[in-house]
Amino acid sequence: MSATSTKTNERVLLLGAGGMLGSAVYEAATVRHSHVLATDIDLNEPWLVHQDFRDLASLERLFDEFKPTIVFHLGALTDLEYCETNPEDSWATNALSPENSALLAEKRGLTLVYVSTAGIFGGEQEFYTDFDMPQPTSHYAKSKYYGELFVERKMSKYFIFRAGWMMGGGPEKDKKFVNKIYRQIKGGAKELFVVADKLGTPTYTVDFANGMFRVLETGFYGLYNQVCGGSGSRLDVAREFVRLLGLEHEVKVTEVDSSHWQKEYFAPRPHSEKLVNMKLERRGINFMRDWKVCLAEYAEVFRKDLSGKV
Ligand SMILES: NC(=O)c1ccc[n+]([C@@H]2O[C@H](COP(=O)([O-])OP(=O)(O)OC[C@H]3O[C@@H](n4cnc5c(N)ncnc54)[C@H](OP(=O)(O)O)[C@@H]3O)[C@@H](O)[C@H]2O)c1
Repeated sequence: MSATSTKTNERVLLLGAGGMLGSAVYEAATVRHSHVLATDIDLNEPWLVHQDFRDLASLERLFDEFKPTIVFHLGALTDLEYCETNPEDSWATNALSPENSALLAEKRGLTLVYVSTAGIFGGEQEFYTDFDMPQPTSHYAKSKYYGELFVERKMSKYFIFRAGWMMGGGPEKDKKFVNKIYRQIKGGAKELFVVADKLGTPTYTVDFANGMFRVLETGFYGLYNQVCGGSGSRLDVAREFVRLLGLEHEVKVTEVDSSHWQKEYFAPRPHSEKLVNMKLERRGINFMRDWKVCLAEYAEVFRKDLSGKV
């Protein structure tokens, strides 16, 4: 169904929707479906309702009250260093919680959507298809992979979408690379030190969210890599972003290797987490645009913020 046609009567429950991906999913959900309930522990939007998905009893009450037909388990602890130093919290949030959602959804015959990460791979290969074997190394990646396994083994109607380096949410919500670069620029940095030895596939939240709904409409359940087209290093993304901001002559982007940031980013990260959307491609349902096209669209909000228009 396209975003312009009549809304469906599906009842869509979003768990952990207050983050950088959540806003895009909320928007994509509300243009398609009449009944959308978005929840999080961080009530940073007027449309969010409180729900801690670690609490199985209250989650079950929510399922019984709202009576969803589709559940998106979006939320997670996504700070790798926090997860590395707080493994119990990481496991409770990233593994046990999707298990909670899966148990409740399966018991009621619902469809569950779980968002996973390219970070579950070992990094030795250059690219990873949907069929490559995960070899997670950090607590974050291990806990996310466990979430995948449980959903895959226990559920009948599920979708697992693996994202790459997420870009989205803008200066307020983006907790990841693009906004980390932006904050340095906004803070007056004239030189950025960016690694060239970490490779991946940027993933725009807007495309990712719309892609999930369009794949859901096909009813082709299963696990999918879903990243933007193209790939690159962190250095490539930083250089492109600085160029899009029109600052390539003001801000120097200097290449370093990962040892430069070892103290700040001590959690293990794969050398390459480039994904290929093999299954989406083969089934003719890959709706993701190239990452440079997406970054150009996304950079607009930062350009406006920088020029004081927002
Ligand atoms: N960011 C990436 O680069 C990336 C890449 C691949 C996959 N993913 C996956 O994509 C999904 C969305 O991530 P994101 O980037 O949107 O992360 P995010 O911006 O950190 O958003 C996650 C949201 O989940 C909330 N949350 C955490 N614990 C919760 C709990 N117990 N109950 C309810 N909500 C809870 C967080 O609240 P707090 O802010 O208060 O913690 C936050 O609002 C996650 O599953 C993540 O693993 C992310």
